[in-house]
Amino acid sequence: MQEQIVPTHAPPREGSGDPASECRVVAVVNQKGGVGKTTTAVNLAACVAVANMPTLLVDLDPQSNATSAYGISTGESALYRSLVLGDALTAEHMQTTEIKRLMIVPSTVDLVGAELELADVPNRTDRLMAALGPHKKNFRFIFVDCPPSLSLLTINALRAADEILIPIQAEYFALEGLARLLKTVDRVRRSIHPGLRLGGIVLTMYDARTNLSRQVGEDLRSHMPDLVYRAAIPRSVRLAEAPSHGRPIIAYDISSTGAQAYLAMASEFLTRAGVRGSA
Ligand SMILES: Nc1ncnc2c1ncn2[C@@H]1O[C@H](COP(=O)(O)OP(=O)(O)O)[C@@H](O)[C@H]1O
Ligand SMILES: [Mg+2]
Repeated sequence: MQEQIVPTHAPPREGSGDPASECRVVAVVNQKGGVGKTTTAVNLAACVAVANMPTLLVDLDPQSNATSAYGISTGESALYRSLVLGDALTAEHMQTTEIKRLMIVPSTVDLVGAELELADVPNRTDRLMAALGPHKKNFRFIFVDCPPSLSLLTINALRAADEILIPIQAEYFALEGLARLLKTVDRVRRSIHPGLRLGGIVLTMYDARTNLSRQVGEDLRSHMPDLVYRAAIPRSVRLAEAPSHGRPIIAYDISSTGAQAYLAMASEFLTRAGVRGSA
């Protein structure tokens, strides 16, 4: 029987005085679709917010899955306009969620157009960073759910991010995909953002009973021991159901294995981030 973990209520880290410099932007990225990016962004953001951290979730995927996972319908295209036209992203463009301290910038389908239109705008890789900059003082963590590509939208997320979080599904070719992603991260570091850090790798849809899951997990842990989260996210029907109810897993079914896994992961995440009292 797995021990239940209840949400921790860690006090905010003692500040250096500048709230904007305390904010950490995390891009949840993997160019492969269906690996658990959105599920991780949606649920990790919720778990971090219930641990007392003012948190913003930015849905940068035109498919809007993170937006609908919070039961929010896509409305005006503030994110598109701030990226392509350079309009300011304001607090009115952020919506509250049922999780206290968690806000979301919804996605809209016109972000598909942004992928192409960004190619022609000046500072095309810096647009998301510029849009989020004024809001950093209001949040401790900003999670960016990326589309399943290494397009300009994703490059904008990498440019805006302090660190990246990579969900990996334990399957054949997962490690080849990771190698390609790490090359892109290196390119971004060399060209536009030397400070971009690899924050961590989380195994998703993990099934400890299968050799393949165990093998992928062991390979990753032996190559990148410090990067891989101890908490692996199991395959869980409740996790797959929660979005259709418009709720994160900790609101939908806190006792499920999926909720407990994301709470454990959030605890590790906060410990790595240097937030005291969360281990
Ligand atoms: N741990 C899990 N257990 C069961 N289903 C999951 C799990 N993680 C993700 N899924 C499901 O798999 C599909 C793809 O996940 P998603 O998070 O949308 O991936 P991505 O954002 O990388 O495309 C979704 O239908 C989601 O509900
Ligand atoms: Mg997604």
